[in-house]
Amino acid sequence: MTTSDDVEIPIATGDDVVRVRQATRTAAGAARLSLVDQTKVVTAASELARNTLVYGGGGEALVSQVTDERGRAGVRIVFRDEGPGIADVDLALTDGWTSGQGLGLGLTGARRLVDAFDLETAVGQGTTITVTKWRR
Ligand SMILES: Nc1ncnc2c1ncn2[C@@H]1O[C@H](COP(=O)(O)OP(=O)(O)OP(=O)(O)O)[C@@H](O)[C@H]1O
Ligand SMILES: [Mg+2]
Repeated sequence: MTTSDDVEIPIATGDDVVRVRQATRTAAGAARLSLVDQTKVVTAASELARNTLVYGGGGEALVSQVTDERGRAGVRIVFRDEGPGIADVDLALTDGWTSGQGLGLGLTGARRLVDAFDLETAVGQGTTITVTKWRR
């Protein structure tokens, strides 16, 4: 379930990446995640927003507070772009692999910092990555 607190943030500049970080922090605080878990999901969101900007050619983030069947609160962020897509997802999810100038640790790091990580991509069409972090 998502709520009316959902925020949609276009990602076209570095300032937008900061906005995604802030919105994620706000949602994670509202979902009453621990400070450590807030920082984890904010770090993941920051890496994914930067990828959307750098590799996706820009896109958007949708930041939501969510609740599971048992009433547990969490935060979910969907990153969407209509960029080149990722040809080899396994390679992209390898520690240290980058197609650019990065460290190649963003995707794998983000995946480790959240509870659920879903990546959908199609070459020439774009990439959608959804991450969720639950309150524990
Ligand atoms: N939204 C995207 N669209 C297209 N390719 C992407 C996208 N996100 C990631 N990739 C590809 O996956 C690779 C790995 O991403 P990852 O974030 O792990 O590393 P990086 O961005 O290269 O370096 P780092 O994040 O450590 O600075 C990227 O180099 C890029 O080729
Ligand atoms: Mg990256």
